[in-house]
Amino acid sequence: MIEILPSILSADFARLGEEIAKVEQGGATMLHVDVMDGHFVPNMTVGPPVVKSIRKVTRLALDVHLMITNPDPFIPVFIESGADLVSVHQEVCPHLDRTLHTILDAGARAGVVLNPSTPVSTLDDVLDIVDFVLIMSVNPGFGGQKFIPNALRKIQQLDARRRERGLQFAIEIDGGVSLDNIAEIVNAGCDWLVAGAAVFHSVDPADTVARMKRAAVEAGYLRV
Ligand code: DX5
Ligand code: ZN
Repeated sequence: MIEILPSILSADFARLGEEIAKVEQGGATMLHVDVMDGHFVPNMTVGPPVVKSIRKVTRLALDVHLMITNPDPFIPVFIESGADLVSVHQEVCPHLDRTLHTILDAGARAGVVLNPSTPVSTLDDVLDIVDFVLIMSVNPGFGGQKFIPNALRKIQQLDARRRERGLQFAIEIDGGVSLDNIAEIVNAGCDWLVAGAAVFHSVDPADTVARMKRAAVEAGYLRV
């Protein structure tokens, strides 16, 4: 399934419930929540209490992207707070297999994230247990950055591995996604497209989500 996942990082946090209602109205089924610790990435955002509050106002699946140095002890807390999907960065998980099982055992779908400089090959031994792989198309930390085109090559590599090994994991992209590059991202093999600034900095976020989803689904029809 091809989906657009609005990232609340670019929303107005003082009016978060209203902002989420807009993208829900636009046809989003999943919401991307960026958690930053000011250590792994040079920015800080929200923690479990905010996830808990969001959980109460929306039925969207909550995709919690952990950009934190030590994710393991926080995984159960985020899932208890309402996360449906949790992703961790390969770069901070020396025991990645264990960390992914921690997510799965706590009842959420498990994802692993690669920074722009981390090769796809580092995931070869966990691809059979993940529900999704998130390819960063910007260096994580901020919304509104420029798309790094090498992400397309990495999506193609992942898609090739998925086919060769008959696996079902979804491929997600995060950073610099807009109406201008949706078609090439989907063509490369991507299923879930995170979009922050493109959605929440637009005049009509509901309409933008609807248009982005239409463009992505149409590109998906042409995919073999
Ligand atoms: C960046 C975050 C992204 C961010 C994307 O580190 O992981 O989810 O919100 O924002 P845009 O779509 O504005 O690049
Ligand atoms: Zn993110």
